[in-house]
This record gives sequence, structure tokens and C-alpha cells, in this order.
Amino acid sequence: MSRFPAVRLRRLRANERSRRMVRETRVPPSSLILPVFVDPTVRRPQGLPALPALTRHPPEALLPLARRAERAGLGGLLLFGRPRRKDPEGTGAWDEAGAVPRALRSLRSRTRLLLVADVCLCAYTTDGHCGYWKEGEVENDRSLVGLARAAVTYARAGADWLAPSAMLDGQVRAVREALDLAGYAGRAILAYSAKSASAFYDPFRDVEDSSPRQGDRRGYQMDYGNPREALREMALDMEEGADLVMVKPGLPQLDLLARARERFPLPLAVYQVSGEYAMMKDAAVAGHLDESRAVPEVLTAFRRAGADVILSYYALEAVEQGWI
Ligand code: PBG
Repeated sequence: MSRFPAVRLRRLRANERSRRMVRETRVPPSSLILPVFVDPTVRRPQGLPALPALTRHPPEALLPLARRAERAGLGGLLLFGRPRRKDPEGTGAWDEAGAVPRALRSLRSRTRLLLVADVCLCAYTTDGHCGYWKEGEVENDRSLVGLARAAVTYARAGADWLAPSAMLDGQVRAVREALDLAGYAGRAILAYSAKSASAFYDPFRDVEDSSPRQGDRRGYQMDYGNPREALREMALDMEEGADLVMVKPGLPQLDLLARARERFPLPLAVYQVSGEYAMMKDAAVAGHLDESRAVPEVLTAFRRAGADVILSYYALEAVEQGWI
């Protein structure tokens, strides 16, 4: 009784009633985090040419978006800021009056969404690197001080999770120690661990004006050809105190997600980055792709590969449109 014609796998595909019942992988809205851009120089929400259908927000104007996200049942928001003025040390990254701390303070008591703050220097430094750029490379250990200060500033302003994304050696430990010392031992670290030097970040850099002025990020972001190194990065970040680790970008690195899922017990996150979003959005606008079918297919692939948490610019649209 184990072969055709007794076995017909199509029986359970016969109609939506059956298919719904036996679906193995779902995308709960509560597993989604929407990345959000806050900008101290704009007075009202402003469209982003590099990321069609998305906006940048004044720091104190996020409440309407947060309410929509709550209504949709999303898990949280990931905040990205930029300074009024960039400087060599990226001091804007830990300015209490900066965009991200202001946004966090304005939201914290008004929402039950999880608030995550990206911790990096690239949007704040004149050189556009994720740490301090000197003679053609990033000064690793000195840059950790800036990252740690930024993390503590965001924790104080109300961030639940701090997400160091600079790919500097020791960044998780530096952030963990600084948080503990400052009295924030209870705040979690979402480590951008397997973050490759990817072409898919370009729309984001356009929005943040954070492209390196000289050189590129391959001296600190990973070579996307190195899966074993990616597993080492994740293991090391766990030892340094990461509570969750992330694979980024998503679709080009589904294998890393699946391998990490088998190997590690902690929660895994995946970031469907700006270029992945733009690729689908532009194809949809051009009429080459039906988003209502393509977006759930990709989000489901992330879950199937092992992601607990999905960071996606599609998070809100996918739920509001009923795509997932
Ligand atoms: C900051 C950071 C970047 C992204 C997330 N955090 C840019 C980069 O590494 O250049 C990319 C996110 C995206 O493309 O959506 N280092």
C-alpha cells in the first residue's frame, strides 16, 4: 500500500480546504520585523526613490506607522537613523538627541511592538564605513568603543534589542559588556553575524547616504563564498553573548540559514535586504511579477529554511494586503 495507485499525493492538494490543513510552513505576522528609516531633517514622511512604496519619517512621527504595524500583528520595528551632520567619529550615532533615540523615546511608552535598534557607524561617519577608516582600512578595536556607546544610548532610549551590524571583530562582546555595565543586562543582542559584502545593500545605502567614500566593505563584511566562515562567525557571536544571530542577505544565503538551523539551538533571524525588496517591487511595478504570489513564496522559503524572525521591507504590506 505504499505506491501508486494506492498512494496519491495529489489527494491532499485537491482543494484549499485540504491544502490549508496540511501546510507545513506558515509565516506568522508576529515573526516579522519592519525596518524603518528615521531622519531628523524631514518634517513629514517622505517617499524613498530607492525603495518604492516606502518612506522616511521624522523621529517623532512614527506612531501612525506603529499603530498600523500593531493592527497587522507585526512583531516589531527595526530603526535606522541618520545624523544632521556626519563627522569622522560618527558621534551622531550616540547623540541622545539623535533620530533613533528620539524615535525610541516617542514610541516606547505608546506601543507594545518590539523595538530593535541597528547599531553601526556607517550612516554617521564622513567616510561611510562601519568603523573608523584610516589608511585604507577600518580600525577595529577603536571603532568598538563607538558601537558600544551607540548601543547604550539606544538601550537607554528604550530599545528592546540591539543589533550590531558593523561586522567588526568583537562587536558583540563590546556591546554586551557596555550594556551590562550601564545596567541593561536584560536587553538582548540580535547579532548581524553572517553578513556578506553584498550588492543587494545598494538601495539602503542610497537612502542612508552611507556608501563608503573610498574603498568598500569587503575588509569587514564576509565573502559570500564562505559558508564555513559564516558558521564560525555565528558560533563566535554566540560565545560573545548574542541572543539571536542573523543571516543577511536572505535569498542568496538560504543555505546558510538551513545549516545554522541544524547546528545551533538559538533563534535565527534573516534579513531580506533592500535590494531583494527593490528587485521584486520593480519587477511588480513593471508587470513582470505578481507580488501577491511572489512575496509569500519568498517569506515562506525563509521560514522553511529555519528563520524564526524575518526582517523585511514587505512586512507590513504583506500582512495588510493579505498575502500571508
Ligand atoms: C549598516 C547596515 C546596512 C544594512 C543594514 N545595516 C548597510 C551596509 O552594510 O552597507 C543593509 C540593509 C539593507 O540593504 O536593507 N551597516
